[in-house]
Formats: sequence, C-alpha cells, structure tokens
Amino acid sequence: MAFTTLLLCAFSLGLLSHGQPEAVRNHNSSDLLYTCNKIAAAISGASQVFFPLTPEYLFDIEHAYSSSNEASACLVEPGSAEDVGEILRILGSTRTPFAVKGGGHATNPGFSSTRGVQIAMSRFNEIKIGLTSGTVEVGAGLTWDQVYEVLELTGVNVVGGRVSGIGVAGFTLGGGYSYLSNQYGLAVDNIAGYELVLPNGTVTIVTSDDDDLWFGLRGGLNNFGIVTQFMFQSHPQGDIWAGFIYYSENELDAIKEVLVNFQQKNDDKAVLIVSLAYSLDQGVYCTIIYFYDAPTPSDIFEDFLAIPAAEGNVSTTSFSDFVQSLNPQPEFNGLRTFYNAAPVTQYSPAVFDAFVNQTKFWGAHLSTLDKNVTVISALEPFDKGLFSHGSGSAYPTLSSLLTLPSNGPTSHSIKQWPLRYATSLADGQNVSRAALYPNYALFGTPLEDMYGGNVERLQKIKAAVDPEDVMGLAGGWKF
Ligand SMILES: *[C@@H]1O[C@H](CO)[C@@H](O)[C@H](O)[C@H]1NC(C)=O
Ligand SMILES: *[C@@H]1O[C@H](CO)[C@@H](O)[C@H](O)[C@H]1NC(C)=O
Ligand SMILES: *[C@@H]1O[C@H](CO)[C@@H](O)[C@H](O)[C@H]1NC(C)=O
Ligand SMILES: *[C@@H]1O[C@H](CO)[C@@H](O)[C@H](O)[C@H]1NC(C)=O
Ligand SMILES: *[C@@H]1O[C@H](CO)[C@@H](O)[C@H](O)[C@H]1NC(C)=O
Ligand SMILES: *[C@@H]1O[C@H](CO)[C@@H](O)[C@H](O)[C@H]1NC(C)=O
Repeated sequence: MAFTTLLLCAFSLGLLSHGQPEAVRNHNSSDLLYTCNKIAAAISGASQVFFPLTPEYLFDIEHAYSSSNEASACLVEPGSAEDVGEILRILGSTRTPFAVKGGGHATNPGFSSTRGVQIAMSRFNEIKIGLTSGTVEVGAGLTWDQVYEVLELTGVNVVGGRVSGIGVAGFTLGGGYSYLSNQYGLAVDNIAGYELVLPNGTVTIVTSDDDDLWFGLRGGLNNFGIVTQFMFQSHPQGDIWAGFIYYSENELDAIKEVLVNFQQKNDDKAVLIVSLAYSLDQGVYCTIIYFYDAPTPSDIFEDFLAIPAAEGNVSTTSFSDFVQSLNPQPEFNGLRTFYNAAPVTQYSPAVFDAFVNQTKFWGAHLSTLDKNVTVISALEPFDKGLFSHGSGSAYPTLSSLLTLPSNGPTSHSIKQWPLRYATSLADGQNVSRAALYPNYALFGTPLEDMYGGNVERLQKIKAAVDPEDVMGLAGGWKF
C-alpha cells in the first residue's frame, strides 16, 4: 500500500498543460544560443554551461514533479556568487527569460523552470557549522535531507523542511513551516543573514541591519536577486520521537475528536500533520505524521495512539532518519502535482468534515476522469505561539492572526472552487484577512491574498533594487 504518497501533501492530476511565459516568444533559438554562449564565455572555471541531452543537463533540469519540468535552451551551474552576478548581468542585458532551481520542489509550473536559461544552484552545496557563532551556513542548492544528514552528529539543528526532497532555497525564501516552528518560528524567523546576488550582479550580505531587503527576503522569494547562501541560527537537537501511522476511513470520526482536543493543549514540542487522501478502493484514508522533540513524548498523543491503526509506527529516532523516511514512493515521483492553500484558524469538527468532504468529492469526481488522480488534503495544526518568534517580514503578514497553512485539492478544472471559504467558513471562521502561504498557493493567486498590506512596500523595494526588472524575467510571484 502506497500510503507514503500522502506525504506529498498535495494533489496530483495528470491532465494539464500550461503556457510559456510571454517573454519566451520574443526569443528564438538562435537568440537563446547566443545568450548561452555569452554566459559560457563570461563565467569562471568554477561554473559551467550545459546543453540539452548532456548527462549534466538532464540530471539538473529534473524537478520533483513533471508539471515543473521544462526543456531550457541551456543550463548553467554557477559555482561562485560572482559568476551568478555575471549571469544575471547577461540575462538582464539580453532580456532573456530564465529560472532559478534550488531543490526543484516548486509545484507551480514555471516557478523554477523555463524554456530560456535554467540556472541550477547545485554547486552551492556546502554546509558550514559555526560552533561558536551558533549559526549554520547552507548553500542554496541543497535539500533539507542533505542538511539534516550533516547536522545529525553535531547536536545542533536548524528550522527546515518536514519531508524528504524539499529544497533549502524555495522553502526558506517563502516562509518555511518546520517541526521546530512551534518552538522557534518559521525558517524566516531563524535567519542570521543571506549572501545575495543583486539583480545588477553585485554580491552583498543581507542581515537585520538592512531594513528593506531584510524585510523582503523573508517571505518574498526570488524578487530581489538570487540568494546563494543562507545563514541560519542553530538550535540544540537530540533524538526525537516520531513516525507515521495510517488509518482507514472508519476511524475518521475518532481522529476528528482527538484532533480538536489536541489543539486545546499547549506543548510546543508536539507536532502533527494529518493528511486525508482519496482512492477509488479505499475512499478517504488518513495518514498522521507524529513528531515530538524529545526521545520520549509527554502523554499528549495518548488519545491518538489509542485509535486502531492499519499500519505504521512511531519510535525514538534521529531527526535526519525520520525526515528521510518521509519519502514518496518512486512510482509517485514525477507526477504532475499542484498545491493550493486553505488557511483556517483552527480545525473544528465542522472544518474537519469539510476537508473530508472536499477530499472525497473531488477525489471521486476526478478519478472518473483519470484513475491515477490522487487528491490529498493536509491539515497542519500548529501551536498558538507560531507567529510570536519573529520581526516584521514579507510573510507572514499578520502575526496577530494565527492561520494554519493547510493544503487542499486543486487543479485547473477546480481552480475557481472557493476552497478557502468552503473549509474555513464551515463553522463561521473569518479568514478574510488570513494570508495564503506563498509556497502552497496555486499559480494565479493575487499577491494581496498572500502578502496583504505588505504588497505596496514589497513593490517599492523591488522597484528600488531591480529598476531594470531583471528578476521579472524569471517565473514566480512577482512584485
Ligand atoms: C531570431 O531573432 C533575431 C531577432 O531577435 C533575428 O535577428 C534572427 O534573424 C532570428 N533568427 C531566426 C533563425 O529566426
Ligand atoms: C513501521 O511501519 C512501516 C510502515 O508500515 C513498516 O514498513 C515498518 O516495518 C514498521 N517498523 C516497525 C519497527 O514496525
Ligand atoms: C461536499 O462538497 C461538495 C463540493 O464542494 C458540495 O457540493 C457538497 O454540498 C458538500 N457536501 C457536504 C455534506 O458538505
Ligand atoms: C496510470 O498509471 C499507470 C501506472 O503508472 C500508467 O500505466 C497509466 O498509463 C496511467 N494512466 C493515465 C491515464 O495516466
Ligand atoms: C471578516 O472580517 C473582516 C474584518 O477583518 C470584515 O471586514 C468582514 O466583513 C468579515 N466577514 C464576515 C463574513 O464576517
Ligand atoms: C547594484 O544595486 C545596488 C542596490 O540597488 C546598488 O547599491 C549598487 O550600487 C549597484 N551596483 C552597480 C555596479 O550598479
């Protein structure tokens, strides 16, 4: 049984096509070849340009989901921040569409892929542990699996991704919900500094001394240049108690009851992800990821563990081994996958029922079109203190309103479905001011829905830092 697919926390649909960015139309293949050759001639020996069908090109062009794969004219692996600067200057002066790939886990088509020039950050793969500074410096081409593996024996950890395969760069630039977020906040609340290549090619370090860029980079994704290194504040880390357990549809009522109670308790070491998925033969089934930041948990999960389970187990383990165990099975890699965001302020019985209903309704409906469709909703209860750890940042916009960044089913065909209201307003929760999480929000989401009252400031910062709109040549949310 392939229940680890639930860990994709997303909806997959094999039915989609999408358009290319407008800018590509003005660039024929000889224009692109000219730009690629110009880059190859300008960069140092630390970096290299690869053309289609070479092994390096094929390896680095690959994204986690096939919906985010595109055949670029060439692929460049920069090996130094200065070379990233050279590349940006050439892309800017030739107005060539490009994309920046960190871990390649983005689910919105074109956000880290392009028909123009693909920049792959894979050579930024170093991890430097500052034992006295209490920081860890992480290259923008790494995935969290790689980071946790290196940190495993050091006794320290950083606030990073929750399942296998997530890249450091997009996760961190978009906000970053972690198993440690109840205790320390989002990834953006745990940054000591960034090495940033500005859109004009200048390499700079951004820290809390930099008012505007510091605000913008913490949630504002790739609008202000290309981040090559992230400096994280580290935290002590020992063994944890964690695992995942799979339940059949019969147990959904019991799960609902204990989930509602769980949110009344306050234990910032305890974290859950409750995933609901639909399949033709099983209906709606559930996987719960359990995490406790100590080798033995308090009694907070006792009610959950009393529910009869179909499969799975929880035990004392290392942080790194646990995250690596949350690995989608190979046959589900490469699917077309889309996320959508469905913020709620709490998982009440009515909201839980609404998530079950939408998973079942869209699962059943879309399976009639394609048996392979999987509809998954991820419910992510966090502690009330989640947003109390940071200072003003692009995301989250409103620290006074705790919103939980649930995923919900999504596709082109149900894009207009008012997911946000169907779930949250099921019991009258008013989430009209809740910011959608940019790393979950479906392409086409208005900026205001994610960045609220920050949009105007972010647009001003963008205009000042990138007057030539170089970063506008890359996909993603654009200020
Ligand atoms: C490509 O476009 C350029 C203008 O951008 C033009 O000069 C050139 O002739 C075109 N090449 C081809 C093969 O169409
Ligand atoms: C834990 O559950 C997984 C998934 O069902 C299973 O593959 C594994 O063997 C189990 N491990 C133990 C120690 O029971
Ligand atoms: C379940 O969701 C569908 C689609 O949004 C809706 O039409 C239906 O009324 C819902 N059913 C219940 C019981 O909420
Ligand atoms: C569904 O998946 C199977 C196995 O991966 C594949 O052979 C089949 O072509 C897929 N069907 C569709 C409609 O994509
Ligand atoms: C939700 O709250 C906003 C203010 O935060 C208010 O303007 C709006 O009318 C409220 N909506 C509902 C349905 O109560
Ligand atoms: C690049 O942009 C930064 C920020 O706007 C500016 O301070 C710097 O002078 C620019 N560098 C060049 C060489 O234009």
